Amino acid sequence: MKSKASAPGKVILFGEHFVVYGVKAILCSIDRRVTVTAEKIKERKISIKSNIGNLELEPGKAIKEIDSPLKPFYYLADKILQKRDSGIKIQVESEIPLGVGLGSSSACCVAGAAAISKLFSELSKEEILGMAIEAEKTIFQNTSGADCTVCTFGGIMEYDKEHGFLKIKSEPNFHLVIANSNIEHSTEVIVKDVKSFKDNNENEFSNLCNNEHELIKEVLELLKKNKIKELGEKVNQNQKYLEIIGISNDKIRKMIEIGNESSYGTKITGAGGGGCVFALTDNSNLDKTIKRFKEKNYECFSVKIDFQGLNTF
Ligand code: MEV
Repeated sequence: MKSKASAPGKVILFGEHFVVYGVKAILCSIDRRVTVTAEKIKERKISIKSNIGNLELEPGKAIKEIDSPLKPFYYLADKILQKRDSGIKIQVESEIPLGVGLGSSSACCVAGAAAISKLFSELSKEEILGMAIEAEKTIFQNTSGADCTVCTFGGIMEYDKEHGFLKIKSEPNFHLVIANSNIEHSTEVIVKDVKSFKDNNENEFSNLCNNEHELIKEVLELLKKNKIKELGEKVNQNQKYLEIIGISNDKIRKMIEIGNESSYGTKITGAGGGGCVFALTDNSNLDKTIKRFKEKNYECFSVKIDFQGLNTF
């Protein structure tokens, strides 16, 4: 028996890092996906194949002892096999570059939880999300849950840790140009660095959280009115806050300058320290913005908002 699921990647439009401390974030899922196929097998093993490597182990191993980016899949399969005799074979196909802030690991956790659980039972999206967040915690303990939430439910949403998500009903007609610094980051390490910044600068960090909170309120109003240029100014404002908490670097700053030559605003998306920036555009400056990044030899592509979220087959 086989089952298949696919989940989209994501872009955090506003509020990364501050969301870990309870501030609201605004994020959307994007039209790049991870597809996971799971198969029940007789042999008592968990076998995972992906374009970033393979992992094959017996069930029952301690998660702490597994040193592989495929650990969340093992965790999910092992949990489901606890009271069962069979094994599971998993195949992962991804269109999302890894470790650059576009939600590849969250999409893996969501599609993995859906495909693996479907071999044995039919779960709701909320239950799948719960499993996906647990799996994500095997690689990043302090997750806010924002990424897995948007990869499950799709679309554009506001999210905070206390209240969960609320879909944003307007469908803004912007285009996001993503440019990749090709510096891989560990979300866990960068979130720890931000915590050190917070611990050493309690007042400043608390002011930044308040500023971010105000900015998000304004952004929600601008989204309703589809005011792309003004949203771009908020993107640049948010980037300033990210600069202060120390998740930017020289390469990112250069990329932001390039983006701002023709887009309405450019910022880091996700953990930072490398990874990707996005530039906010509409039809009038989309091609120009892509061209500018490409001329400077950056991997660059445009994405649209995905409105489907998790799909199971
Ligand atoms: C990572 O994509 C987003 C962070 O805010 C961490 C999190 O929300 O769990 C940096």
